[in-house]
Amino acid sequence: MSKTESNAAGATSALEIRDTRTGTSYSVPIMPPATEGDTAIRAMDLRQIKQKPDEFGLMTYDPAFMNTASCKSAITFIDGDKGILRYRGYPIEQLAEKASFLETAWLLRNGELPTQTEYDDWKHQITYHTYVHENIKTFLQGFRYDAHPMSMLCSSVAALSSFYPDAKNIEDPAERHISIVRLLAKLPTLAAFCFRHVKGLPFIYPDNDLGYVENFLSMVARMSEPKYEGNPAFVKALEVLFILHADHEKNCSTNAVRAIGSSHVDPFSAVAGGIAALYGPLHGGANEAVLHMIKEIGDKKNIPAFIESVKAGKGKLMGFGHRVYKSYDPRARIVKKLADDVFKVVGIDKDLEIALELERIALSDEYFISRKLYPNVDFYTGLIYRSMAFPTDFFTVLFAVARTAGWLAQWEEMLLDKEQKIARPRQIYTGYGERAYESTISHGGRGGGKDAVRK
Ligand code: ACO
Repeated sequence: MSKTESNAAGATSALEIRDTRTGTSYSVPIMPPATEGDTAIRAMDLRQIKQKPDEFGLMTYDPAFMNTASCKSAITFIDGDKGILRYRGYPIEQLAEKASFLETAWLLRNGELPTQTEYDDWKHQITYHTYVHENIKTFLQGFRYDAHPMSMLCSSVAALSSFYPDAKNIEDPAERHISIVRLLAKLPTLAAFCFRHVKGLPFIYPDNDLGYVENFLSMVARMSEPKYEGNPAFVKALEVLFILHADHEKNCSTNAVRAIGSSHVDPFSAVAGGIAALYGPLHGGANEAVLHMIKEIGDKKNIPAFIESVKAGKGKLMGFGHRVYKSYDPRARIVKKLADDVFKVVGIDKDLEIALELERIALSDEYFISRKLYPNVDFYTGLIYRSMAFPTDFFTVLFAVARTAGWLAQWEEMLLDKEQKIARPRQIYTGYGERAYESTISHGGRGGGKDAVRK
């Protein structure tokens, strides 16, 4: 950026800014539009706007990153107003109908659909890395019987980093590749082990004859039968749900993975951070929160009072609203259809009736319409998971297994992006100016800590 007199950047488009404090005008280059027309200015170009030469310069203030692009990305495209979601250019509707989850994971990472040879090799590698070190079982046994499976999953993925010390060689493409394969392969195993721990059931080892989703269901549900055979409707539903959840641009957990990964830590630690972010009820925890909300409502006759309390600001209608989608979440449309297919197999119960009535009312109520609050993907996924008999606190774990594909693609894209550095936002300090220290407590044995180290 330069002052108006000389636009050194020579950009074809520029933003003219006049600082009324100094009367100086600046010309800030506007970045050329990206594929889908997104434009931006570089925040660093604002730094030269200052009143005195020794000032820090102007920053942008953007709590919760409402209008800040932290990177360029070629992975996922979302148009929140039009309800569009595409992975690498392919509409989510087509992938959900025709692709497999592992094919989608390949696509997210590599940018193109795999050839048959590439796919067979990818599938083979992921299938043969599904086992986890036996010590992980001991590690999981340390959790209480009622530990939340997301806490267990987060910790056990972080623990995996200690089993693969070479994963920290993130500059080495071969190490990155094997870490990505290991994470995609072992997430279902760890998730299933967390499930079995809570249930007090023995861990079931992976069955490498089965596909990705069916093997996962086998590790979750198999009892004494020698060979697990999943209900085809459930296997299909989970495969589609995994595809729908595989990536979603710069959401909270992906931002966490990219930020943690920007410190060049190993990907197991970065993905553990993503799982922690996903656990929150405003993000992946929402599908669990939907079911809690339905339980709390209890009966269809209580719905009008519940809707009124939401409108009065006494809580949210969980599973509605989205930071990006201000029209129907395209995934919700697919999931609603999927839900119909699953409910045909398992039937409709009281909770489902409450959910459908909530949806009907919310879609016709002025409060929700005027705020563009539509059902998001989590509104229906919880209902499907529940009808498949997954416990409520396991829903977000299913989300995490699928999102691992996106986290890893985004992590690698971030590492290979020459413009990226360690993620480190600025702040606007609002605390005290300098003041002198005067103690208000008695320090007693200050310095006595020597006893702790010198016996
Ligand atoms: N129920 C009732 N009112 C809502 C809801 C909701 N679910 N969501 C937003 N609103 C209201 C807000 O109170 C606000 O009203 P106001 O303008 O009168 O103050 C208005 O709609 C705008 O809401 P914001 O909070 O500004 O929207 P934001 O983009 O920050 O939040 C979020 C998005 C966090 C998803 C929010 O809609 C929400 O909390 N929804 C419920 C939780 C949920 O379902 N999360 C899952 C998201 S999808 C995912 O992570 C996979």
